[in-house]
Amino acid sequence: YPSENIRNFSIIAHVDHGKSTLADRLLELTGTIRKGHGQPQYLDKLQVERERGITVKAQTATMFHRHNLHGTDTEFLINLVDTPGHVDFSYEVSRSLAACQGVLLVVDAAQGVQAQTVANFYLAFEANLSVIPVINKIDQPTADPDRVIEQLKSMFDLDPKEALLTSAKTGQGLEQVLPAVIERIPPPPGKSSSPLRMLLLDSYYDEYKGVICHVAVVDGALRKGEKISSAATGQSYDVLDVGIMHPELIQTGVLLTGQVGYVVSGMRSTKEARVGDTLYQYRSVVDPLPGFKPVKHMVFSGVYPADGSDFEALNIAIEKLTCNDASVSVAKESSTALGLGFRCGFLGLLHMDVFHQRLEQASHVISTVPTVPYIFEYSDGSKVHIQNPAMLPSNPKQRVTACWEPTVIATIIIPSEYVGAIITLCSERRGEQLEYSFIDSQRAFMKYRLPLREIVVDFYNELKSITSGYASFDYEEADYQASDLVKLDILLNGQPVDAMATIVHRLKAQRVGRELVEKLKKFIDRQMFEIIIQAAIGSKIIARETLSAMRKNVLAKCYGGDITRKKKLLEKQKEGKKRMKRVGSVDIPQEAFHELLKVS
Ligand code: GTP
Repeated sequence: YPSENIRNFSIIAHVDHGKSTLADRLLELTGTIRKGHGQPQYLDKLQVERERGITVKAQTATMFHRHNLHGTDTEFLINLVDTPGHVDFSYEVSRSLAACQGVLLVVDAAQGVQAQTVANFYLAFEANLSVIPVINKIDQPTADPDRVIEQLKSMFDLDPKEALLTSAKTGQGLEQVLPAVIERIPPPPGKSSSPLRMLLLDSYYDEYKGVICHVAVVDGALRKGEKISSAATGQSYDVLDVGIMHPELIQTGVLLTGQVGYVVSGMRSTKEARVGDTLYQYRSVVDPLPGFKPVKHMVFSGVYPADGSDFEALNIAIEKLTCNDASVSVAKESSTALGLGFRCGFLGLLHMDVFHQRLEQASHVISTVPTVPYIFEYSDGSKVHIQNPAMLPSNPKQRVTACWEPTVIATIIIPSEYVGAIITLCSERRGEQLEYSFIDSQRAFMKYRLPLREIVVDFYNELKSITSGYASFDYEEADYQASDLVKLDILLNGQPVDAMATIVHRLKAQRVGRELVEKLKKFIDRQMFEIIIQAAIGSKIIARETLSAMRKNVLAKCYGGDITRKKKLLEKQKEGKKRMKRVGSVDIPQEAFHELLKVS
């Protein structure tokens, strides 16, 4: 296939607007997959993916389609380069888009433009891609395509004549999609006579083949048997296998300029496969492709085995997971309260949730309150980067002279009646309003700068609940800003529990301390001695609760001598104990740690 017969495109959309369904229909239409076999991956979707309606792992595929272009009937090779559907992966999205010359911007005909539509549009726009607007779900009774077309015109200056109207459900309008891709998206511009340069898009670990990388050949060609090098790591590899995803791997032995496919090269771990890296011919001299960025971790959390003996099991479970997700950082850490565990770094919140959920399927774990990376400066001029609040001394020898925290720019789109609620929420979360406008008569568009810390803790759930699920939200990383931060310690019977320490803004410390202490009182069961629960800043106690002593006897509830019932209760009590963590002499149930995550 000469480059002029190749098209590379991506589908971008707000969650649930129909990206995966549309992709499946296009693959069916071209005979790439059989009808009704469209969603094999649906079954192993994680709960969190289903709950939030997003796909985490992208599915890239090559299809073939005949089309009469300028009077000649030609077969085109069309690559659908899939992108992960969440803001945490915006870097991965930007790299996938770098392999494309155009996008389908899918918008739900009833919901209209949402926060991720805006974010994704600008990613495509900045990458100079042709944008084909696709108004999907026109079969819905509440569909109002004209309104959506109007929004696209006023917000992105997209020509109303260019919009395609489709229903990925009924199939209406789908026949126009591939012709539009072929006619409106230019072929890949690379040079076949230049030395090989290819962009690494994604990777995963396969038990039989080892690490499989998805790549886009920008210039030159890639052949089996050749040797390639990585610009990011300097490592070299033999090309063992090359082919296309159709959507299963099909060996072709070669990928030509403009093609998207896979390569197996004996990499030992996906950690060697950096998204956005340039792979080139061994020993040739080429400029790396622009835009590569090393992974940046925005959220950290500790994970510990729920009962101390399981450390090895946890270790194995984590190794297995990171094998397929090289973007999680893992470092051993130890906590006085929880023992041996790991500090993991994530690209963002959803990334963290997905990881925790996968981990919990494999092993009982306790995860600590997530933290963002802070910077503290002391009076001797030294600066420390804090990824774990426990690392910050409660009574430092040096005075803290300044602290900084990461911020984000959030885009929120909501029906206008919720504007007041959003303003209240964002100001509680220390947000600064940057923009407030209307995208049409019923919908408002707001931009806020918010400390990352404030959205890490339960922001998304609260946003959804105060707007009855109607808000859409997206954010991008912004600068660090100076902030008045303090470490908040939790003490049980006078002993600080390092794993419960958090860093908060000074003005919120009192309220957060109060709430934490109350939550703990509710979730810790009474024990045989009195428990004093306190929150403190340095040596100053700011909140206190007392849990009085009680002898807990589950059998007291049993009348008579029914032995099976007695056994059941004892079993249940044992089961409950498994999920406990003994800190000092106090047993803390796993839920208490979970509940702490919700205090902001
Ligand atoms: P992720 O893949 O999870 O990121 O979401 P998505 O944007 O790809 O949406 P998806 O294709 O999973 O579709 C979301 C829901 O909308 C599913 O329940 C689909 O069945 C439904 N859906 C998709 N297209 C249409 C359509 O044209 N009409 C109607 N009525 N429903 C549709």
